Amino acid sequence: TRLNLDLTKGVKVSPKLYGLMTEEINHSYDGGLYAELIRNRVFKDNPGQPEGWSVVEDGAKASIQLIGADPANVPFDQGRNAINSALTTCLKLTINEVNGGRAGIANTGFWGIPVTPSTTYRCSFYIKTGTANFSRGNRPEATPATTVTENGPGIINVSLESTDGKTVYAKGSINLVKSIFWKKHELTITTTTNIKPTADARFVISSNRTGTYYFNLVSLFPPTYKNRPNGNRIDVMQMMADMKPAFLRFPGGNFLEGPDLGDAFPWKTTLGPLEQRPGHTGSWGYRASDGMGLLEFLEWCEDLKMEPLLAVYAGYSLRGDHVDAGPLLEPYIKDALDEIEYCIGDTKTYWGAKRAADGHPAPFKLTDIEIGNEDWFDRSHTYDGRFKQFQAAIKAKYPQLRCISTIEDYKPDRVVSVKPEMVDEHYYQSAWEMEEDAAKYDSYNRKTSPKIFVGEWATREGAPTTNLNAALGDAAWMTGMERNSDLVERSCYAPLFVNVNQAGNGQPKAWQWDSDLIGYTALKAYGSPSYYVQKMFSNYLGNKVVPITAENAPLRKPAVKDTAGLSKWPTNARRPKAERPALFYVCTQDEKNIYLKIINTDDMAREVEINLKGGDIMAGGTLIVLKGDKPEDTNTIDEPTKIVPVTSAITGLGRSFRRTFEPYSVNVIKLTKR
Ligand code: AHR
Repeated sequence: TRLNLDLTKGVKVSPKLYGLMTEEINHSYDGGLYAELIRNRVFKDNPGQPEGWSVVEDGAKASIQLIGADPANVPFDQGRNAINSALTTCLKLTINEVNGGRAGIANTGFWGIPVTPSTTYRCSFYIKTGTANFSRGNRPEATPATTVTENGPGIINVSLESTDGKTVYAKGSINLVKSIFWKKHELTITTTTNIKPTADARFVISSNRTGTYYFNLVSLFPPTYKNRPNGNRIDVMQMMADMKPAFLRFPGGNFLEGPDLGDAFPWKTTLGPLEQRPGHTGSWGYRASDGMGLLEFLEWCEDLKMEPLLAVYAGYSLRGDHVDAGPLLEPYIKDALDEIEYCIGDTKTYWGAKRAADGHPAPFKLTDIEIGNEDWFDRSHTYDGRFKQFQAAIKAKYPQLRCISTIEDYKPDRVVSVKPEMVDEHYYQSAWEMEEDAAKYDSYNRKTSPKIFVGEWATREGAPTTNLNAALGDAAWMTGMERNSDLVERSCYAPLFVNVNQAGNGQPKAWQWDSDLIGYTALKAYGSPSYYVQKMFSNYLGNKVVPITAENAPLRKPAVKDTAGLSKWPTNARRPKAERPALFYVCTQDEKNIYLKIINTDDMAREVEINLKGGDIMAGGTLIVLKGDKPEDTNTIDEPTKIVPVTSAITGLGRSFRRTFEPYSVNVIKLTKR
């Protein structure tokens, strides 16, 4: 095979080509990136039981009870316990006997709590010891009010300990004052130096006196990235930083829309102190704490030097609720305009001032706004009108912003009454399909096509994270996006995160979607082979495409294993072509270097002759290779680095050189210009 690279020609590479996409799926934030360690901290996850919580009875007799979960049915003797309109549910601990031991409440976090040596954790919780006394009047059904026994001033202990309670890793205490009024306590606890990292831990708040205790907003944070108080996990943030992403698409995905109309991402109640965040239903079968709120998304962008790409709710929800274009849509448009104002308005605006009050006076930078998510699922076929109305209102206030349509230009329901400047295309396919489609954008009409944002895509092979075959499919597909990045301005893989815990510890399996990029447990995180492909493509990227013409490019026929995984999502199952290329390639350059990417999807090594036109290079260069023995090879939480890129120095380069590329390999050759 011969590849002829022409350094004298080529379109510009979009500087925003590679970004990230995120939403609350697979415990991406709660039990994921968001560093909060307490599951169900405001007791709203399940109105039937205090999920994640258990009673501790060390020689003692005690019980716990959810209070206020069903506001219509609060036992009359419980009085009023809401802290505010967000914190309406609390946990009551009744300690009847102590017998020289202790009793309390315990939380095992999201499939464990990470404990590492010499680490300081920030704890906080609200506590009170009783409810207001009140007169029962003459209601015949009334039973005597519970009397509060003991509960004098005293000590409340907090500890991070093994789940059997035998080993205490860190501890602290607060002085409790007997009170019917809520009081917030904050303290830090530090683990000892001589412990082995473990997630087999629980957080306990306990007392050695009988009585009743009420708890709300119980929180525990380990150290966070850049020490943000309501911040993110350090290891996962570092993994993303290493990808050098240009932007972050948020808050979804399905998480933007919610199952029904009232469940869309409620950005207004995700702002301010945690006390003001009730959380909401979520779109993936569990409740979202909204600790990762609008400002936290924006600060995540700031920390990783990414541009925010905000998606606004556009009046269509997952189970089909929709709002027709016209006056009924106006409140939703107003809500989106407010949200944009929160992001970019100056501090003289209402929402810009709120952002300043929340601690961030400087406006963030936005250039593109996405209107909804996957509106081709909308059976009411109302997107054309909804998009038009949103775009008109957004452009009237912010002419500089581009509005992204969520329906591809070739789909029947595409927007026609105005021309979207950019459309979001989604692809979830098998490796074979991605490889077949790698040249898709070569033939898009540059004059008529809107700019493309590939806002969700992945080769779906492997679970919970993808395998090497998926990484090969990804890399092949990415050569096509990169080569056409005059048209494909942005792209982001999805889903980004998965908590890989299986069911257990009283908790369900952590993930809803197979084939994810970065996997983690409470203690550790790892990248899939696809993660490393993302990193290689984004780290070795020039600012101009180098056109390539190929001679004698090899072809492959599908084997049974190639067709077995053909995608059924959403409706694009299809017959494989008789054959497709075995090698995929793309090249870019900047002032100093040339970055040639060659993907060998074949089961045999392939030799390639590379010829340069219009420039010369140094004899020495760098080769980065990601490869494995078999397409099914993968990384896991227990074997996190089986497939990782290996960098080596190479020599003998010049205007014409040959190299052999190993089977199942993704290769980047970095050449230095003379
Ligand atoms: O990435 C998972 C889901 O796939 C997204 O939430 C949705 O937009 C798409 O259907």
